[in-house]
Amino acid sequence: MIKPLVAGNWKMNGLSSSVSEINALKEKVSSNSNCDVLICPPATLIMAFSHILKETPIALGGQTCHPAEKGAHTGDISAEMIQNCGAEYVITGHSERRMDHGELDKIVKSQTEAAWRAGLKAILCVGELIGERKADLTLKVIERQLKNSIPEGATAENLIIAYEPVWAIGTGLTPTVEDVAAVHNFIRQLLSDNLGSEIGNNMRILYGGSVKPGNAKELMAASNVNGALVGGASLKAEDFAGIIAAYE
Ligand code: 13P
Repeated sequence: MIKPLVAGNWKMNGLSSSVSEINALKEKVSSNSNCDVLICPPATLIMAFSHILKETPIALGGQTCHPAEKGAHTGDISAEMIQNCGAEYVITGHSERRMDHGELDKIVKSQTEAAWRAGLKAILCVGELIGERKADLTLKVIERQLKNSIPEGATAENLIIAYEPVWAIGTGLTPTVEDVAAVHNFIRQLLSDNLGSEIGNNMRILYGGSVKPGNAKELMAASNVNGALVGGASLKAEDFAGIIAAYE
């Protein structure tokens, strides 16, 4: 049995006043929940949140990391720095990083290696653009992204895959449950074929893209969906708790 993970990606949202939202979330998440819970705030808030979330079941993560451990990379943050702030996870290959910063498969691979070097678990994101879906290229795109960005040494503990169709992010649109299942089943098969069934069958595959309290239960019940990567609805404790409740 894979324990699901419900992860919140705050993206470029949150100020010091957001501690109230995290305090509220802390009250809503119990340690005997049927899923693991993770918040990935902007880097500026990881340290503050880690003080608040100490001794709670809510884990912390970063949203990206530089491949190098340290050095002359103005504005960047290393996996070691994220780990040093109290985080256990980092997202790699998010489509917004791929598009805004040109972080393509080769870079995503080195970022994922960096995450492991620092002792972080990586949540590696893949997903097709709307044009690719319309051209029936979804599975081809996913296969290329996974083949080119998963480094040697992946295990079910150090790597989580997130399927996020780019056209579903922040739009309120979602694929049908059947479409989600088709992609997740394909990813499961690919992971098993390439990493061996022991690793491939135990690796978590999250769905992301307009997950809300109202659709979470249905999406999370789809075949080979082992949790969610949530953007907008993770910003409010009540909404995020409503998604976590899909696993009650
Ligand atoms: P939304 O939940 O806002 O669609 O964002 C999804 C996402 O990109 C999470 O990483």
